[in-house]
Amino acid sequence: MPVVNRIAAFSEEIAEWRRDLHAHPELDYDVHRTAGIVAEKLKSFGCDEVVTGIGRTGVVGVIRGSKPGDKVIGMRADMDALPIHEATNKPYASKTPGKMHACGHDGHTSMLLGAAKYLAETRNFAGTAVVIFQPAEEGGGGGRAMVEDGMMERFGITEVYGMHNMPNMPVGQFGLRPGPLMAAADRFTIEIEGRGAHAAQPHGSIDTVMITSQLITALQSVVSRNVDPLESAVLSITLIRAGDAFNVLPQTATLKGTVRTLNKSVQDLIERRMTDIVNGICSMHEAKAHFTYDRGYPVTRNHEAQTYFAAKAAGAIVGEDKVDLTLAPTMGAEDFSYMLEARPGAFIFVGNGDSAGLHHPAYDFNDQVIPIGVSYWARLVESAMPA
Ligand code: NI
Repeated sequence: MPVVNRIAAFSEEIAEWRRDLHAHPELDYDVHRTAGIVAEKLKSFGCDEVVTGIGRTGVVGVIRGSKPGDKVIGMRADMDALPIHEATNKPYASKTPGKMHACGHDGHTSMLLGAAKYLAETRNFAGTAVVIFQPAEEGGGGGRAMVEDGMMERFGITEVYGMHNMPNMPVGQFGLRPGPLMAAADRFTIEIEGRGAHAAQPHGSIDTVMITSQLITALQSVVSRNVDPLESAVLSITLIRAGDAFNVLPQTATLKGTVRTLNKSVQDLIERRMTDIVNGICSMHEAKAHFTYDRGYPVTRNHEAQTYFAAKAAGAIVGEDKVDLTLAPTMGAEDFSYMLEARPGAFIFVGNGDSAGLHHPAYDFNDQVIPIGVSYWARLVESAMPA
């Protein structure tokens, strides 16, 4: 079964919405123009309810099927852009220097709008479809803000689905997997306070540089000696700051870095072992340690039944052989994870073809993906809640 004919017929119109959003990127929660356009279009399509201001600037549209039903299927798109200076040279390139849609959220928003238009027009399902447009995916936690605003309860959402484009996966292919698909992304800071001294009189110091070097080595044992070798984890120290002169032992040193994990028990283990190692090594040398470990977006974990269901809906559009159900997880992070913690559901990648990578100044969403992505949303709703 190919793409839905009715959707193919207005794909060019959706592409025009996409290029308009692309030319007017907005960051974080400040997506007022975008959210305004989304709300206005949802109303013009005849959605039964359009609610703005959820999770600050999020928008939700409700479309009831031609028959009643218990299921309420949530579908989510992200609206925010990135603080990157665009280098695509496209006629519809960003009109705002230093901001661009370099992650394809313009495409995600337009495709979900297209699905809303189709679903409001056809209503060929028994139940309720809820389209979710979130701000601040790129680090601001807009997905969490919408969940914390009570979105799931307010609209009675029973399952939730998300989609992201993937550069270098061919157009017409999908990829996903049950279980962890994207990592939890945490950051840490270690501040060490020793005692500064003349470099020629080390016996008078508590040497934070030497302590730092021991810490770096010891922390590498966490992934190699504490984490199960069949699990995945990254512990990267990315910043070291200490000292200003060749003849002074510095009083303080700071280390920063990131931890990526696909499993909460591994995440807990790493935080605990890091705390022990930092405190242990610093106290061994009579230095003071201040360790902060900040948890970012949690693991994006697909629920099994919904994953197979999503794969089937995608297979109905592009053919089962074009849906990779064993896609390798990535150590990047995604705040749809908060929605998957609140309700069962699945996140799927759709091929963006031969393009620059996500977050690259030359990246552009591929408009050929539009009929495929919109048809996926339509089939997902129609097969989850057959009329
Ligand atoms: Ni993105």
